[in-house]
Amino acid sequence: MADRVYIFDTTLRDGEQSPGCSMTVSEKLKMAAKLVDLGVDILEAGFPIASEGDTQAVEAVSKEYPWVSVAALARCNKNDILVAAQALKAARRPRIHTFIATSDIHLKFKLKKTRDQVLEEAVNAVRLAREYCDDVEFSAEDATRTDHDYLEQVSRAVVAAGARTVNLPDTVGFSTPEEYGALIGRISKALGDSAIVSVHCHDDLGLAVANSLAAVQAGARQVECTINGIGERAGNAALEEVVMAMKTRNDRYPFETKIVTEQLYPCSQLLTSIVSFGPQPNKAIVGENAFAHEAGIHQDGYLKNRTTYEIIEPKSVGVPESRLVLGKHSGRHALAQRCETLGVPLTKEQLDVVYTRFTEAADRKKGLRNDEIADLARTVVDELAKAAAVQ
Ligand code: KIV
Ligand code: ZN
Repeated sequence: MADRVYIFDTTLRDGEQSPGCSMTVSEKLKMAAKLVDLGVDILEAGFPIASEGDTQAVEAVSKEYPWVSVAALARCNKNDILVAAQALKAARRPRIHTFIATSDIHLKFKLKKTRDQVLEEAVNAVRLAREYCDDVEFSAEDATRTDHDYLEQVSRAVVAAGARTVNLPDTVGFSTPEEYGALIGRISKALGDSAIVSVHCHDDLGLAVANSLAAVQAGARQVECTINGIGERAGNAALEEVVMAMKTRNDRYPFETKIVTEQLYPCSQLLTSIVSFGPQPNKAIVGENAFAHEAGIHQDGYLKNRTTYEIIEPKSVGVPESRLVLGKHSGRHALAQRCETLGVPLTKEQLDVVYTRFTEAADRKKGLRNDEIADLARTVVDELAKAAAVQ
């Protein structure tokens, strides 16, 4: 299917590489269960050569979810590939994901190798990996800072050696949507149907999701991403944002994934409970405030028809409901509705007084809790009733 985009989840590998996000084998298994419910196409469970824990996590996920495509990362050398292949032994749909840097910066300062050496190692690694499984992915680390002619040469060579997927990561989050789209367009055209072009974007300039979407428009058919956007440094493209951008703006991104979007929020919540931090409150799709409305004009519009201020139905991403935050910007409509929900329905006269006192209090504080609002409403109702009895 030309318009199908495969979601390669790397929360358990690249995501785990961010400070404060390392996971035990049992935590990875718990997270893997949710990622399977979410419907990711490929689940990268670890980098086996890196640690015994990663090896065990790849083995455990492969055993537990045999029908899922499980990937294990390996550098382009014999030992890494053998260890990855061994860890994937129980998988019915194993994928060896082998990588080597291709940019001159990495060749000169990190690898101290020539372009020809790297090309040869990439090809040999893919050939070796193919001896253990049919599904081999090659990543050209730092692809976006690699000479384009050389990148095309490497891409063609690894496909000829048996790679089915060629991933062109923006490893340092340096690219821009136009630039990345052009690069992906060029390599997709060069490879044609011989391989799937994949993208993997880091968020150093806050462009990871925009770059991933530009790449899909230019021909990429696999997106590597993580829940809550966790990952090295500023993180990876956030899975929930990539998926919901394609779903919500299908007119602009006419592509399909098989993600069960109702699982996005539960998945994000589970990850937050496992790692040491959650998404920032204003994070798109899964942040605490993603479906919260505070301004009175917004609340009034939302209460008349939610589409005035909401482009995504919260339930469609697994968020139970929108939240009307009652603060100093809120209006009467929302306050009246909240008091009613809290069991204190108000007349117009009562609401006028409650509203005046509420705005005074909200001005002093960051907002009022439900119990404080209910107390205030009851106090006003009592006061007005007593005043009426006296007259
Ligand atoms: O960012 C990167 O280049 C990577 C590769 C190993 C795919 O994570
Ligand atoms: Zn990465």
